[in-house]
Amino acid sequence: MTQRVLTGITTTGTPHLGNYVGAIRPAIAASREPGVESFFFLADYHALIKCDDPDRIERSRLEIAACWLAAGLDPERVTFYRQSDIPEITELNWLLTCVTAKGQMNRAHAYKASTDANAAAGEDLDAGVTMGLFCYPILMAADILMFNAHRVPVGRDQIQHIEMARDVAQRFNHLFGRGRELFVLPEANIDDEVATLPGLDGRKMSKSYDNTVPLFEGGAKGLREAVARIVTDSRLPGEPKDPDSTALTALFDAFATADERHAFRADLQAGLAWGEAKQRLVHQIETQLSPLRARYAELMAHPDHIEAILQAGAAKARAVARPALASLRDAVGLRPMRAVNIGSAKATAAKAAAHLPSFKQYREGDGRFYFKLQAADGQLLLQSEGFDEGRAAGAWVKRLKTEGAAALVDAPASRPAEVSAEQLAQALADLVAAQD
Ligand code: TRP
Repeated sequence: MTQRVLTGITTTGTPHLGNYVGAIRPAIAASREPGVESFFFLADYHALIKCDDPDRIERSRLEIAACWLAAGLDPERVTFYRQSDIPEITELNWLLTCVTAKGQMNRAHAYKASTDANAAAGEDLDAGVTMGLFCYPILMAADILMFNAHRVPVGRDQIQHIEMARDVAQRFNHLFGRGRELFVLPEANIDDEVATLPGLDGRKMSKSYDNTVPLFEGGAKGLREAVARIVTDSRLPGEPKDPDSTALTALFDAFATADERHAFRADLQAGLAWGEAKQRLVHQIETQLSPLRARYAELMAHPDHIEAILQAGAAKARAVARPALASLRDAVGLRPMRAVNIGSAKATAAKAAAHLPSFKQYREGDGRFYFKLQAADGQLLLQSEGFDEGRAAGAWVKRLKTEGAAALVDAPASRPAEVSAEQLAQALADLVAAQD
Protein backbone atom coordinates (compact mmCIF):
# COMPACT_ATOMS: atom_id res chain seq x y z
CA MET A 1 0.00 0.00 0.00
CA THR A 2 1.29 3.46 -0.73
CA GLN A 3 2.28 5.42 2.32
CA ARG A 4 0.80 8.84 2.55
CA VAL A 5 3.31 11.35 3.88
CA LEU A 6 2.13 14.82 4.83
CA THR A 7 3.86 17.85 6.22
CA GLY A 8 3.00 21.48 6.79
CA ILE A 9 5.28 24.47 6.51
CA THR A 10 4.28 27.42 8.66
CA THR A 11 4.60 30.46 6.46
CA THR A 12 6.42 32.85 8.71
CA GLY A 13 9.84 34.28 7.99
CA THR A 14 12.19 33.38 5.16
CA PRO A 15 13.91 29.99 4.99
CA HIS A 16 17.56 29.78 5.99
CA LEU A 17 20.18 27.16 5.36
CA GLY A 18 19.12 25.23 8.47
CA ASN A 19 15.56 24.90 7.14
CA TYR A 20 16.95 23.76 3.80
CA VAL A 21 19.22 21.07 5.22
CA GLY A 22 16.91 19.99 8.05
CA ALA A 23 13.51 20.06 6.32
CA ILE A 24 13.26 21.12 2.68
CA ARG A 25 15.96 18.95 1.15
CA PRO A 26 15.11 15.70 3.00
CA ALA A 27 11.37 16.16 2.43
CA ILE A 28 11.84 16.63 -1.29
CA ALA A 29 14.21 13.65 -1.46
CA ALA A 30 11.64 11.53 0.42
CA SER A 31 8.88 12.61 -1.96
CA ARG A 32 10.80 11.00 -4.80
CA GLU A 33 10.86 7.58 -3.17
CA PRO A 34 8.67 4.93 -4.76
CA GLY A 35 5.52 3.92 -2.91
CA VAL A 36 5.14 7.33 -1.31
CA GLU A 37 2.36 9.78 -1.94
CA SER A 38 3.32 13.20 -0.57
CA PHE A 39 1.19 16.09 0.58
CA PHE A 40 3.11 19.29 1.31
CA PHE A 41 1.24 22.41 2.22
CA LEU A 42 1.72 25.98 3.31
CA ALA A 43 0.27 26.23 6.82
CA ASP A 44 -0.87 29.81 6.36
CA TYR A 45 -3.73 29.58 8.86
CA HIS A 46 -1.14 28.56 11.43
CA ALA A 47 0.93 31.57 10.39
CA LEU A 48 -1.97 33.86 11.35
CA ILE A 49 -1.64 32.64 14.93
CA LYS A 50 1.86 34.04 15.15
CA CYS A 51 1.63 37.09 12.95
CA ASP A 52 -0.89 39.87 12.48
CA ASP A 53 0.99 41.78 9.80
CA PRO A 54 -0.82 41.12 6.48
CA ASP A 55 2.11 42.22 4.33
CA ARG A 56 4.48 39.87 6.11
CA ILE A 57 1.98 37.03 5.75
CA GLU A 58 1.71 37.70 2.04
CA ARG A 59 5.45 38.01 1.44
CA SER A 60 6.36 35.00 3.51
CA ARG A 61 3.85 32.74 1.75
CA LEU A 62 5.27 33.73 -1.60
CA GLU A 63 8.92 33.32 -0.56
CA ILE A 64 8.36 29.96 1.07
CA ALA A 65 6.41 28.58 -1.90
CA ALA A 66 9.17 29.81 -4.21
CA CYS A 67 11.86 28.22 -2.01
CA TRP A 68 10.27 24.79 -2.05
CA LEU A 69 9.66 24.87 -5.78
CA ALA A 70 13.18 26.16 -6.46
CA ALA A 71 14.60 23.44 -4.22
CA GLY A 72 13.11 20.83 -6.53
CA LEU A 73 9.62 20.10 -5.26
CA ASP A 74 7.79 18.61 -8.23
CA PRO A 75 4.14 19.71 -8.14
CA GLU A 76 3.25 16.94 -10.57
CA ARG A 77 4.44 14.35 -8.11
CA VAL A 78 3.57 16.00 -4.84
CA THR A 79 0.22 17.50 -3.87
CA PHE A 80 1.39 21.03 -3.02
CA TYR A 81 -1.25 23.43 -1.73
CA ARG A 82 -2.16 26.18 0.68
CA GLN A 83 -4.07 25.19 3.81
CA SER A 84 -6.31 28.25 3.38
CA ASP A 85 -7.43 27.03 -0.06
CA ILE A 86 -9.01 23.91 1.45
CA PRO A 87 -12.24 24.90 3.25
CA GLU A 88 -12.76 21.25 4.22
CA ILE A 89 -9.85 21.58 6.66
CA THR A 90 -11.53 24.32 8.67
CA GLU A 91 -14.78 22.40 8.62
CA LEU A 92 -13.06 19.29 9.92
CA ASN A 93 -11.34 21.51 12.49
CA TRP A 94 -14.75 22.14 14.02
CA LEU A 95 -15.80 18.49 14.03
CA LEU A 96 -12.57 17.68 15.87
CA THR A 97 -12.90 20.65 18.23
CA CYS A 98 -16.20 19.19 19.43
CA VAL A 99 -14.56 15.96 20.57
CA THR A 100 -11.31 17.37 21.95
CA ALA A 101 -10.98 17.64 25.71
CA LYS A 102 -10.07 21.13 26.87
CA GLY A 103 -7.89 19.58 29.55
CA GLN A 104 -5.73 18.01 26.89
CA MET A 105 -5.25 21.36 25.18
CA ASN A 106 -4.26 22.87 28.54
CA ARG A 107 -1.26 20.55 28.43
CA ALA A 108 -0.11 21.46 24.90
CA HIS A 109 3.51 22.67 24.97
CA ALA A 110 3.00 25.90 23.06
CA TYR A 111 0.15 26.98 25.33
CA LYS A 112 1.94 25.79 28.48
CA ALA A 113 5.04 27.76 27.49
CA SER A 114 2.92 30.92 27.33
CA THR A 115 1.15 30.36 30.63
CA ASP A 116 4.43 29.42 32.33
CA ALA A 117 6.06 32.61 31.06
CA ASN A 118 3.06 34.62 32.25
CA ALA A 119 3.23 32.96 35.67
CA ALA A 120 6.93 33.76 35.95
CA ALA A 121 6.24 37.39 35.02
CA GLY A 122 3.42 37.61 37.56
CA GLU A 123 0.89 38.27 34.81
CA ASP A 124 -2.55 36.80 34.29
CA LEU A 125 -1.92 33.21 33.13
CA ASP A 126 -3.69 33.68 29.82
CA ALA A 127 -2.31 37.12 29.02
CA GLY A 128 -1.67 37.41 25.29
CA VAL A 129 -2.99 33.90 24.60
CA THR A 130 -5.44 33.76 21.70
CA MET A 131 -7.88 30.93 21.05
CA GLY A 132 -5.86 30.37 17.88
CA LEU A 133 -2.80 29.51 19.95
CA PHE A 134 -4.83 27.45 22.39
CA CYS A 135 -6.48 25.39 19.63
CA TYR A 136 -3.37 25.20 17.43
CA PRO A 137 -3.04 21.41 17.85
CA ILE A 138 -6.63 20.80 16.71
CA LEU A 139 -6.11 22.65 13.45
CA MET A 140 -2.93 20.67 12.98
CA ALA A 141 -4.84 17.44 13.61
CA ALA A 142 -7.37 18.53 10.96
CA ASP A 143 -4.50 19.12 8.49
CA ILE A 144 -3.28 15.59 9.03
CA LEU A 145 -6.52 13.63 9.43
CA MET A 146 -8.20 15.32 6.45
CA PHE A 147 -5.87 13.36 4.18
CA ASN A 148 -5.46 10.25 6.32
CA ALA A 149 -1.70 10.64 6.39
CA HIS A 150 0.27 7.66 7.68
CA ARG A 151 3.48 9.51 8.33
CA VAL A 152 4.17 13.07 9.31
CA PRO A 153 7.79 14.21 9.11
CA VAL A 154 8.28 16.89 11.75
CA GLY A 155 10.85 18.25 14.16
CA ARG A 156 11.03 16.92 17.70
CA ASP A 157 9.13 19.94 19.01
CA GLN A 158 6.09 18.75 17.09
CA ILE A 159 5.85 15.18 18.40
CA GLN A 160 3.27 16.10 21.03
CA HIS A 161 1.04 17.58 18.33
CA ILE A 162 1.11 14.35 16.35
CA GLU A 163 0.22 12.41 19.48
CA MET A 164 -2.71 14.73 20.04
CA ALA A 165 -3.82 14.15 16.45
CA ARG A 166 -3.70 10.39 17.09
CA ASP A 167 -5.75 10.79 20.26
CA VAL A 168 -8.46 12.84 18.65
CA ALA A 169 -8.55 10.47 15.67
CA GLN A 170 -8.97 7.53 18.00
CA ARG A 171 -11.73 9.27 19.91
CA PHE A 172 -13.53 10.20 16.71
CA ASN A 173 -13.24 6.65 15.36
CA HIS A 174 -14.61 5.32 18.62
CA LEU A 175 -17.53 7.74 18.79
CA PHE A 176 -18.61 7.76 15.17
CA GLY A 177 -16.87 4.92 13.35
CA ARG A 178 -19.29 2.08 14.22
CA GLY A 179 -16.41 -0.29 13.87
CA ARG A 180 -15.02 1.48 10.83
CA GLU A 181 -11.74 3.41 10.90
CA LEU A 182 -12.82 6.87 9.84
CA PHE A 183 -9.30 8.16 10.36
CA VAL A 184 -5.89 6.60 9.92
CA LEU A 185 -3.81 7.04 13.08
CA PRO A 186 -0.81 9.11 11.99
CA GLU A 187 2.74 8.61 13.14
CA ALA A 188 5.46 11.20 13.59
CA ASN A 189 8.48 10.68 11.43
CA ILE A 190 11.57 11.98 13.16
CA ASP A 191 14.68 11.70 11.08
CA ASP A 192 17.56 11.30 13.48
CA GLU A 193 20.04 11.20 10.59
CA VAL A 194 19.42 14.83 9.86
CA ALA A 195 21.46 16.62 12.47
CA THR A 196 20.29 20.12 13.22
CA LEU A 197 22.58 22.49 11.42
CA PRO A 198 24.58 24.79 13.69
CA GLY A 199 24.47 28.52 13.07
CA LEU A 200 27.33 31.02 12.87
CA ASP A 201 28.04 30.82 16.60
CA GLY A 202 27.79 27.02 16.88
CA ARG A 203 24.35 26.99 18.53
CA LYS A 204 21.41 25.56 16.57
CA MET A 205 20.77 27.70 13.49
CA SER A 206 17.69 29.72 14.33
CA LYS A 207 16.20 33.11 13.65
CA SER A 208 15.77 33.64 17.36
CA TYR A 209 19.56 33.41 17.86
CA ASP A 210 20.28 35.69 14.88
CA ASN A 211 22.93 33.22 13.71
CA THR A 212 21.46 32.12 10.39
CA VAL A 213 22.90 31.77 6.92
CA PRO A 214 20.29 32.87 4.37
CA LEU A 215 19.21 30.29 1.81
CA PHE A 216 18.63 32.51 -1.24
CA GLU A 217 18.28 35.99 0.18
CA GLY A 218 21.18 38.32 -0.59
CA GLY A 219 22.58 36.09 -3.33
CA ALA A 220 26.18 34.83 -3.38
CA LYS A 221 27.26 38.00 -1.62
CA GLY A 222 24.89 37.37 1.27
CA LEU A 223 26.27 33.86 1.59
CA ARG A 224 29.89 35.10 1.64
CA GLU A 225 29.10 37.72 4.25
CA ALA A 226 27.36 35.24 6.51
CA VAL A 227 30.17 32.69 6.22
CA ALA A 228 32.68 35.40 7.07
CA ARG A 229 30.89 35.79 10.42
CA ILE A 230 31.28 32.11 11.40
CA VAL A 231 33.11 31.96 14.71
CA THR A 232 36.50 30.19 14.71
CA ASP A 233 39.44 30.19 17.11
CA SER A 234 42.50 32.34 16.50
CA ARG A 235 44.86 29.71 15.18
CA LEU A 236 47.11 31.06 12.44
CA PRO A 237 47.57 29.68 8.92
CA GLY A 238 49.83 26.64 9.13
CA GLU A 239 48.81 25.77 12.70
CA PRO A 240 46.89 22.47 13.06
CA LYS A 241 43.19 23.05 13.73
CA ASP A 242 40.43 21.05 15.35
CA PRO A 243 37.75 20.60 12.65
CA ASP A 244 35.07 20.32 15.32
CA SER A 245 35.96 23.56 17.07
CA THR A 246 33.73 25.53 14.70
CA ALA A 247 30.37 25.34 12.95
CA LEU A 248 32.27 25.68 9.66
CA THR A 249 32.88 21.94 9.40
CA ALA A 250 29.28 20.90 10.10
CA LEU A 251 28.10 23.37 7.45
CA PHE A 252 30.60 21.96 5.01
CA ASP A 253 29.52 18.40 5.85
CA ALA A 254 25.91 19.22 5.02
CA PHE A 255 26.88 19.94 1.41
CA ALA A 256 29.66 17.43 0.88
CA THR A 257 30.23 13.80 -0.01
CA ALA A 258 32.03 11.53 2.43
CA ASP A 259 35.32 11.95 0.52
CA GLU A 260 35.03 15.73 0.49
CA ARG A 261 34.29 15.79 4.21
CA HIS A 262 37.31 13.67 4.92
CA ALA A 263 39.60 15.84 2.82
CA PHE A 264 38.32 19.04 4.45
CA ARG A 265 39.01 17.73 7.94
CA ALA A 266 42.45 16.45 7.00
CA ASP A 267 43.37 19.82 5.50
CA LEU A 268 42.28 21.70 8.62
CA GLN A 269 44.30 19.35 10.78
CA ALA A 270 47.27 19.99 8.48
CA GLY A 271 47.00 23.76 9.00
CA LEU A 272 44.58 25.09 6.35
CA ALA A 273 43.93 28.81 7.12
CA TRP A 274 40.45 29.64 8.46
CA GLY A 275 40.05 32.25 5.71
CA GLU A 276 40.76 29.71 3.06
CA ALA A 277 38.49 27.15 4.70
CA LYS A 278 35.69 29.70 4.56
CA GLN A 279 36.27 30.26 0.87
CA ARG A 280 36.06 26.53 0.28
CA LEU A 281 32.81 26.38 2.23
CA VAL A 282 31.32 29.21 0.17
CA HIS A 283 32.36 27.46 -3.01
CA GLN A 284 30.94 24.15 -1.85
CA ILE A 285 27.53 25.62 -0.98
CA GLU A 286 27.44 27.98 -3.92
CA THR A 287 27.99 25.20 -6.47
CA GLN A 288 24.86 23.48 -5.21
CA LEU A 289 22.71 26.46 -4.47
CA SER A 290 23.35 28.78 -7.39
CA PRO A 291 21.16 26.88 -9.88
CA LEU A 292 18.41 26.80 -7.24
CA ARG A 293 18.85 30.49 -6.60
CA ALA A 294 18.38 31.23 -10.28
CA ARG A 295 15.13 29.26 -10.25
CA TYR A 296 14.09 31.08 -7.09
CA ALA A 297 14.64 34.49 -8.73
CA GLU A 298 12.66 33.36 -11.76
CA LEU A 299 9.74 32.20 -9.60
CA MET A 300 9.76 35.36 -7.46
CA ALA A 301 9.54 37.37 -10.67
CA HIS A 302 6.44 35.38 -11.72
CA PRO A 303 4.11 35.05 -8.71
CA ASP A 304 1.24 34.27 -11.11
CA HIS A 305 3.08 31.09 -12.02
CA ILE A 306 3.29 30.08 -8.35
CA GLU A 307 -0.38 30.97 -7.91
CA ALA A 308 -1.33 28.65 -10.78
CA ILE A 309 0.72 25.81 -9.30
CA LEU A 310 -0.98 26.24 -5.92
CA GLN A 311 -4.45 26.45 -7.46
CA ALA A 312 -3.82 23.19 -9.29
CA GLY A 313 -2.55 21.71 -6.02
CA ALA A 314 -5.69 22.84 -4.20
CA ALA A 315 -7.85 21.15 -6.84
CA LYS A 316 -5.95 17.89 -6.34
CA ALA A 317 -6.18 18.16 -2.56
CA ARG A 318 -9.88 18.99 -2.58
CA ALA A 319 -10.58 16.00 -4.78
CA VAL A 320 -9.46 13.97 -1.76
CA ALA A 321 -10.85 16.23 0.97
CA ARG A 322 -14.37 16.75 -0.39
CA PRO A 323 -15.54 13.13 -0.38
CA ALA A 324 -13.71 12.48 2.89
CA LEU A 325 -15.50 15.34 4.59
CA ALA A 326 -18.85 14.23 3.14
CA SER A 327 -18.55 10.87 4.86
CA LEU A 328 -17.43 12.49 8.11
CA ARG A 329 -20.44 14.80 8.07
CA ASP A 330 -22.61 11.77 7.57
CA ALA A 331 -20.87 9.91 10.39
CA VAL A 332 -21.63 12.66 12.92
CA GLY A 333 -25.25 12.97 11.77
CA LEU A 334 -25.08 16.05 9.52
CA ARG A 335 -27.16 14.38 6.84
CA PRO A 336 -29.70 15.37 4.21
CA MET A 337 -33.21 15.54 5.66
CA ARG A 338 -35.00 12.23 5.48
CA ALA A 339 -37.45 10.19 7.56
CA VAL A 340 -35.53 9.21 10.68
CA ASN A 341 -35.90 5.75 12.08
CA ILE A 342 -38.31 6.43 14.94
CA GLY A 343 -38.33 2.81 15.98
CA SER A 344 -34.68 2.97 16.85
CA ALA A 345 -35.12 6.29 18.65
CA LYS A 346 -37.84 4.69 20.77
CA ALA A 347 -35.69 1.68 21.42
CA THR A 348 -32.88 3.94 22.60
CA ALA A 349 -35.26 5.82 24.88
CA ALA A 350 -36.64 2.56 26.26
CA LYS A 351 -33.13 1.33 26.94
CA ALA A 352 -32.28 4.52 28.79
CA ALA A 353 -35.55 4.35 30.78
CA ALA A 354 -34.73 0.79 31.86
CA HIS A 355 -31.82 2.17 33.89
CA LEU A 356 -33.86 4.86 35.62
CA PRO A 357 -35.49 4.62 39.02
CA SER A 358 -39.28 4.83 38.95
CA PHE A 359 -42.20 6.01 41.05
CA LYS A 360 -45.07 3.69 41.83
CA GLN A 361 -48.49 4.81 43.10
CA TYR A 362 -50.84 2.39 44.72
CA ARG A 363 -53.61 1.91 47.27
CA GLU A 364 -53.18 -0.23 50.36
CA GLY A 365 -55.67 -2.38 52.22
CA ASP A 366 -56.12 0.51 54.68
CA GLY A 367 -57.82 2.39 51.84
CA ARG A 368 -55.14 5.06 51.72
CA PHE A 369 -53.01 6.18 48.77
CA TYR A 370 -49.23 5.81 48.70
CA PHE A 371 -46.23 6.33 46.42
CA LYS A 372 -42.73 4.92 46.51
CA LEU A 373 -39.55 5.36 44.55
CA GLN A 374 -37.67 2.27 43.44
CA ALA A 375 -34.27 1.89 41.82
CA ALA A 376 -34.10 0.09 38.44
CA ASP A 377 -33.22 -3.10 40.34
CA GLY A 378 -36.26 -2.75 42.57
CA GLN A 379 -34.51 -1.43 45.69
CA LEU A 380 -36.77 0.84 47.72
CA LEU A 381 -35.38 4.39 47.85
CA LEU A 382 -38.25 6.43 49.23
CA GLN A 383 -41.55 5.51 50.87
CA SER A 384 -44.46 7.91 51.33
CA GLU A 385 -46.98 8.13 54.11
CA GLY A 386 -50.59 7.38 53.37
CA PHE A 387 -52.79 10.04 51.70
CA ASP A 388 -56.54 10.29 51.85
CA GLU A 389 -56.71 11.14 48.20
CA GLY A 390 -54.86 9.67 45.22
CA ARG A 391 -54.46 13.15 43.75
CA ALA A 392 -52.30 14.25 46.71
CA ALA A 393 -49.90 11.34 46.17
CA GLY A 394 -49.78 12.15 42.43
CA ALA A 395 -48.98 15.80 43.12
CA TRP A 396 -45.99 14.83 45.26
CA VAL A 397 -44.67 12.46 42.63
CA LYS A 398 -44.87 15.24 40.08
CA ARG A 399 -43.02 17.70 42.32
CA LEU A 400 -40.27 15.19 43.08
CA LYS A 401 -39.85 14.41 39.38
CA THR A 402 -39.45 18.05 38.45
CA GLU A 403 -37.74 19.55 41.49
CA GLY A 404 -35.69 16.56 42.55
CA ALA A 405 -34.13 16.38 46.01
CA ALA A 406 -35.12 19.99 46.71
CA ALA A 407 -38.72 18.84 47.15
CA LEU A 408 -37.74 16.23 49.77
CA VAL A 409 -37.52 18.77 52.58
CA ASP A 410 -41.26 18.87 53.14
CA ALA A 411 -42.36 15.71 51.36
CA PRO A 412 -44.33 13.32 53.62
CA ALA A 413 -42.02 10.46 52.78
CA SER A 414 -38.97 8.80 54.28
CA ARG A 415 -35.79 7.16 53.09
CA PRO A 416 -34.95 3.64 54.36
CA ALA A 417 -31.92 3.60 56.68
CA GLU A 418 -29.79 1.56 54.26
CA VAL A 419 -30.20 4.18 51.51
CA SER A 420 -27.85 7.14 51.69
CA ALA A 421 -29.03 10.69 51.12
CA GLU A 422 -26.63 10.93 48.15
CA GLN A 423 -28.05 7.80 46.57
CA LEU A 424 -31.56 9.15 46.80
CA ALA A 425 -30.56 12.59 45.57
CA GLN A 426 -28.77 11.03 42.59
CA ALA A 427 -31.78 8.89 41.70
CA LEU A 428 -34.02 11.97 41.76
CA ALA A 429 -31.49 13.95 39.72
CA ASP A 430 -31.49 11.20 37.08
CA LEU A 431 -35.26 11.35 36.90
CA VAL A 432 -35.27 15.13 36.61
CA ALA A 433 -32.71 14.93 33.80
CA ALA A 434 -34.84 12.36 32.01
CA GLN A 435 -37.89 14.65 32.01
CA ASP A 436 -36.63 16.72 29.08
N1 TRP B 1 3.13 23.10 13.40
C1 TRP B 1 4.05 22.74 12.35
C2 TRP B 1 5.37 23.46 12.60
O1 TRP B 1 5.38 24.50 13.21
C3 TRP B 1 3.51 23.12 11.00
C4 TRP B 1 2.30 22.32 10.68
C5 TRP B 1 1.03 22.76 10.63
C6 TRP B 1 2.29 20.94 10.39
N2 TRP B 1 0.20 21.75 10.31
C7 TRP B 1 0.93 20.63 10.15
C8 TRP B 1 3.29 19.97 10.30
C9 TRP B 1 0.55 19.32 9.86
C10 TRP B 1 2.90 18.67 10.01
C11 TRP B 1 1.54 18.35 9.77
O2 TRP B 1 6.38 22.97 12.15
